[in-house]
Amino acid sequence: MDKKFKRTLVTTALPYANGPVHIGHLAGVYIPADIYTRYLRLKGEDVIMIGGSDEHGVPITIKAKNEGVTPQDIVDRYHKIIKDSMEELGISFDVYSRTTSDIHTETASEFFRHLYDKGEFVEKTSMQLYDEKAGQFLADRYVTGECPHCHFDHAYGDQCEKCGTSLNATDLINPRSAITGNTPVLRETKHWYLPLDKWEPALSKWILEGHKEWKTNVYGQCKSWIDLGLQPRAVSRDLDWGVPVPVEGAEGKVLYVWFDAPIGYISNTKELLPDSWEKYWKDPESRIINFIGKDNIVFHCIVFPAMLMAYGDNYQLPDNVPANEFLNLEGDKISTSRNWAVWLHEYLRDFEGKQDVLRYVLTANAPETKDNDFTWSDFQQRNNSELVAILGNFVNRVLVLTHKYYGGVVPVPGELTDTERNTYAELAEIKKRLSDYLDTFHFREALKEAMNIARLGNRYLQETEPWKLAKTDMDRVATVMYTSLQLCANIAVAFEPFLPFMSHKLADTLHLDSLKWENLGSNDLVAAGLEIGAPELLFEKIEDSTIQAQLDRLARIKEENKIKQWQPQPVQEPTDFDTFMKLDIRVGTVKECMRVPKADKLLQFTIDDGMGDRTIVSGIAKYYDPADLVGKQVCFIANFPPRKLKGVESQGMILSAENADGSLVVVGPTGPVSPGSQVK
Ligand code: 2FM
Ligand code: ZN
Repeated sequence: MDKKFKRTLVTTALPYANGPVHIGHLAGVYIPADIYTRYLRLKGEDVIMIGGSDEHGVPITIKAKNEGVTPQDIVDRYHKIIKDSMEELGISFDVYSRTTSDIHTETASEFFRHLYDKGEFVEKTSMQLYDEKAGQFLADRYVTGECPHCHFDHAYGDQCEKCGTSLNATDLINPRSAITGNTPVLRETKHWYLPLDKWEPALSKWILEGHKEWKTNVYGQCKSWIDLGLQPRAVSRDLDWGVPVPVEGAEGKVLYVWFDAPIGYISNTKELLPDSWEKYWKDPESRIINFIGKDNIVFHCIVFPAMLMAYGDNYQLPDNVPANEFLNLEGDKISTSRNWAVWLHEYLRDFEGKQDVLRYVLTANAPETKDNDFTWSDFQQRNNSELVAILGNFVNRVLVLTHKYYGGVVPVPGELTDTERNTYAELAEIKKRLSDYLDTFHFREALKEAMNIARLGNRYLQETEPWKLAKTDMDRVATVMYTSLQLCANIAVAFEPFLPFMSHKLADTLHLDSLKWENLGSNDLVAAGLEIGAPELLFEKIEDSTIQAQLDRLARIKEENKIKQWQPQPVQEPTDFDTFMKLDIRVGTVKECMRVPKADKLLQFTIDDGMGDRTIVSGIAKYYDPADLVGKQVCFIANFPPRKLKGVESQGMILSAENADGSLVVVGPTGPVSPGSQVK
C-alpha cells in the first residue's frame, strides 16, 4: 500500500431487515469484510468494523401488509435473526445496530437538515404514480412494470432486476400497483432532489482520475454512470415508514431509504464511539473501506459521496469499495421471495459447529471477479478433500505423532538440514504472497496461500517420514516434530482471518497466547518443553446423506415455486356444440383396477359402461392406489379408436384434470349416475 493510514473504518452494507441473511450476502460482503478486519487486527492496526440492519424502505412495508403486522414487527423479527446468526458465524462486528435506532433517526435528520439549510437540495414538484384505490403514492417497489431498457416485464420502480438499470417509477412501461394491481394515475407531489449533476466533475476527478486502482467491475460501473451524465435524484418519498423529512410542510414524507441507509454507517460509528467517532470519518489519515455487493455500487460510489461532499465539514470519501459480484445457488439466481437460498440461520442449525466450513467454501468460491455458483456437491468436496484431507490431516498427524513419541511435550530440535531451511524459506514466500493478496482484497487467492502452508507441511512430513526415522534416529525425529509443530502454529495465525474457530482451537491446543501477523513465518512459536493439548479433529467428513438432505430441500422448493407460479392455460380457440358432441363422453363404474406389469405409469381398468365390460388403460398409476378406484364412477371418451398400450388394448380414455404440480385427478360425476350415461 503506497499511503500509510492511521486507522481504518470497515463498513459492511446494511442488509434489509425483511428476511434473514443468506450465503449470497455472506460471500459478497460479510465474510470478505470480516477476513480483512481480522487481518488488520492481527497486524495490530486501529480498525473498526461496523454493520447494522437497514430497517426502512418499501419491501418491509409490503411484507408487513402481506402478513397483517406492523413494519416494526417485521424489522424486530429479522434484525434479531440476522444479528444472532452473523455473530454465530464469527462475523466480528464492533457494532451491529439498526436504522430504527434513535441515534440513527437523529443523525439522518440532522444530515438532511444541514444540506437543506445549505441550499444543497433542489425542491421540485412533479407528477408521480398514485394508486387511487389504495389512496397512496407508489414509489420504488410499490410499482412494477416493463423495463424501458431491456423490456423485462417485472421491473421494479427503483431498479430492473434483470438488466440492473436503476429506474424512476415513472420510467416503467405499463406500470401496475404492487398493492392493488391497479394501473396508477399521475398526481402532483413535492420532493427534494440531490443535484448529482452538480457533483459530477468532482466525482469524476475523484474516481476516474484518483482511483484507477479500484476493482475493474467497480471502476467500470462508475465510469459508465458518469459517462451517461448524472441526474438529480429524489431523496424523499411519500410514505409513512422511515425517517420523517425534518422540514415544515413535509407531512407524510420520509427520507428515501437510500438517503438514510448509508448515513447508518455514521450513526453506527457514533453508537460505538460516542466521543471519538469523528476521527474515523473526518481525519484524512483515516481510511474508509465499503464492503458491498455489485447492486450497491452506484449508491456508495456516486450518491453517498455526493452527499458527503455536499455536507462538507471534512467528511472523507471511501478509499476503496471492493464490491463483489453475485453468488448463485445450484445454477439459479438467489431469491428471497422464491426462497431460493441457503439461509445462514438454517445452515447453523443443520451444520452445528461447522461455521468454518461455510466460511471456507464461500471464500474459496467468492464471486470476486464474476458471478459464481454455490453447489452442495462442491461444498462437500471442498470439506472432504481440502479441509479434512489437507489441513485437518496435517495438523492431526503432527499432534498425534507428538503425543506418540514425546508424550505431548514439544521436543528440543537438533541441527536443521536443508529440508527445514527450504521449508521455512517457502513459508516466508507464502507469507509475502498471502499478505499482498489480503492488502489488495484478493481473498480467494489469499486463502489458497494459507492452504499452501498445510500443503507444505504435508510435503515436509512425506519427505522426512518421521514414522520411519523413529526406528533409527530419534534426534532427527525431534527436529522434524519441532518443525512440524511450528508449521501448525503458523497455520493457527494464517487462518485466523478465514477460519477463526479452527484457528483458536488450534491455538488453544498449542497454548499460543496471542495471534499476531508479525509472527507468521517464525520458527519458534511453540517452545521446546511445552506440553501441548490432546489432539482433537479439526474437521470431519461430510456424508452423502447430509448433502442429499439439502438437495432434497431445494428440490421441494423448486416444486413449490412451480405451483406458486402456475397459471391456468389460456382458453382454446372458439369451437361449437356440434364439434363437442362428436366426442362421446360417458360415465362408467370401475369394476376392477390393477397395475400394468412392467409399466410403472399405467393402470388397467375394467369399466361397466352399461353395455358390458370395457378395458381402458390410463397413465395415472403414479397418483393412485388401484384398490381406491374400484367402485368409483369416472368419465371416459367412448369413441376413440382402440389402441394397444404395453400389450393391452385400451378402448377409450379416462378423463382427468391436471393439478399445478402436474399430478392427475380422475374426473367423475358428483352423484350416482347410470353407467353408460352421456356427458353433455
Ligand atoms: O441492498 C441492500 O441490501 C441495502 N439494504 C444496502 C444498504 S447499504 C448502506 F448504504 F446502508
Ligand atoms: Zn431492464
